[in-house]
Amino acid sequence: MESLGRHEDYGQESLHETHLLSDPIEQFKLWLKEAEGENIFEPNAFVLSTVTAEQQPRARTVLLKGVDEHGFFFATNFLSRKGQAISANPKVSAVFGWYSIYHQVIIEGVARVVPDHESDDYHNSRPHDSQVAAWSSQQSAFIQNREALDKQFEDAIEKFRESEVPRPDYWGGYRIVPTRIEFWKGRSNRMHDRIEYVRSINDDGTYTSWEVQRLQP
Ligand SMILES: Cc1cc2nc3c(=O)[nH]c(=O)nc-3n(C[C@H](O)[C@H](O)[C@H](O)COP(=O)(O)O)c2cc1C
Repeated sequence: MESLGRHEDYGQESLHETHLLSDPIEQFKLWLKEAEGENIFEPNAFVLSTVTAEQQPRARTVLLKGVDEHGFFFATNFLSRKGQAISANPKVSAVFGWYSIYHQVIIEGVARVVPDHESDDYHNSRPHDSQVAAWSSQQSAFIQNREALDKQFEDAIEKFRESEVPRPDYWGGYRIVPTRIEFWKGRSNRMHDRIEYVRSINDDGTYTSWEVQRLQP
């Protein structure tokens, strides 16, 4: 088999436990800001993995639309394949791959539908055509051909030409509430730095505090 890729020598800069913030979500925000300052296409894009009711893992890219102390917010169609998978099994994983700056973040946790008012706020912040698009695609369902899809969009544009576009009840936000967040920094000789934060859920639904540990590369 032909060997792919070049043997890049990754960065010299180290990632040390003592340089990281004790709250991994705050640390994530710093890394996201750093990625946003680089020439990276969609630095807020991440690969979201879900597991279907049949235990089939499935991954696709979505965009991070918010992050706060509760977790990571993204928006999608609740009836899509990912939405159906999350209904059956809310455990998800998210990977941010900021390869050009030798950073990777891996998140594990559960995805929860956000309260309606948060989905409404996000929907209302979107451009008109994006709002219409949410009405004109039954995400993940089969469709005959491209023309049929274009027709659905044109029909929806026509329908909402004069009016505000309400949020479809099948469209809105999820928040990934994390229980594990790993920060990976590429280093020379494949001796990369990996620092993971782990917490668990108590019986009363609260979380333990984050524990930090280093993993071998
Ligand atoms: C850069 C990029 C960003 C995307 N952002 C989103 C997003 O925020 N929400 C979404 O539903 N799909 C987004 N998609 C499309 C998804 O990857 C996927 O095709 C779609 O959500 C249907 O996935 P599913 O059938 O597994 O549910 C994005 C794709 C790319 C390449």
